[in-house]
Amino acid sequence: MPLVTTDDMFKKAMKGKYAIGAFNINNMEFVQGITDAANELKSPVILQASPSAIKYARIDYLIKMVEAAVETTDIPIALHLDHGLDFETCKMCVDAGFTSVMIDASKYDFEKNVELTKEVVDYAHSNGVVVEAELGTLAGVEDEVNVSDDDAKYTDPNQAYEFVQKTGCDSLAIAIGTSHGAYKFKGDARLRFDILENVKEKLPNTPIVLHGASSVIPELVEMCNTNGADILGAKGVPDDILKQAGQKGVSKINVDTDLRLAMTGEIRREFNEEPSVFDPRKYLGPARDTINEVVLHKIDNVFCSSNKA
Ligand code: G3H
Ligand code: 13P
Ligand code: ZN
Repeated sequence: MPLVTTDDMFKKAMKGKYAIGAFNINNMEFVQGITDAANELKSPVILQASPSAIKYARIDYLIKMVEAAVETTDIPIALHLDHGLDFETCKMCVDAGFTSVMIDASKYDFEKNVELTKEVVDYAHSNGVVVEAELGTLAGVEDEVNVSDDDAKYTDPNQAYEFVQKTGCDSLAIAIGTSHGAYKFKGDARLRFDILENVKEKLPNTPIVLHGASSVIPELVEMCNTNGADILGAKGVPDDILKQAGQKGVSKINVDTDLRLAMTGEIRREFNEEPSVFDPRKYLGPARDTINEVVLHKIDNVFCSSNKA
């Protein structure tokens, strides 16, 4: 089956009250590790690339790799631009064959966010591509977006309704307490499900997206640290909270950090335990396997076990 948009997978996810996993890709090991897992579970999956991932891997290479995954699997796969910051980047991805783009104009005021999002929606829709937008600001570091805890603000449900009416965006990322990266919570992990429920009441047919949703898997942090890393005080969103998010109306859950930890931990372990190794396949192979295991676990046990293509 060819690359698909997120339309159909989100419709099913909203009806079944589960979330689709959206995993960030940077190179072949990510693409294979993720899509092998989704294919094994017969689950739809979203592969997403940030502007800096596109710059790193080069857009033509990324697309060819994703096309290879599409040709060798039997599941719906969407290719999504993660955190597009301007019209030009979104247009580049639409023109190159992405089936979904995110315009992240959340750092602007409401009016400018609406204006920029609408511009992207008009262009994307006229090319059969769907659009994710963001309202509210997450703390943390994204590609060229650096937001301090103090600046982070939760999404206002009334504004969310007005925003979707005015822009016609297909899905909406909201801020309910997550943040990007490995340091999400200083104390207990807590999300504002009251805001999510309020948004869903006002927008029952709009798929809601949760960014910054890695669990920051403690075993992977430990594997990094016991092999020379210095990742201290890291904390993510526990599996049970993510499960609840899916049941309460989040339709897309974004994961990047956990896959970075998987790759880094395995490479560090291999270098540490086998200092004579200099064949990249000896450490990139285990890295791909662990990415695969992480994605299998998330799709099957956390996002939804009945999430079948
Ligand atoms: O939300 C941001 C993603 O984790 C992408 O990060 O821009 O470093 O690729 P990146
Ligand atoms: P994490 O840093 O929690 O993996 O979030 C990734 C993300 O939101 C990508 O858009
Ligand atoms: Zn994000």
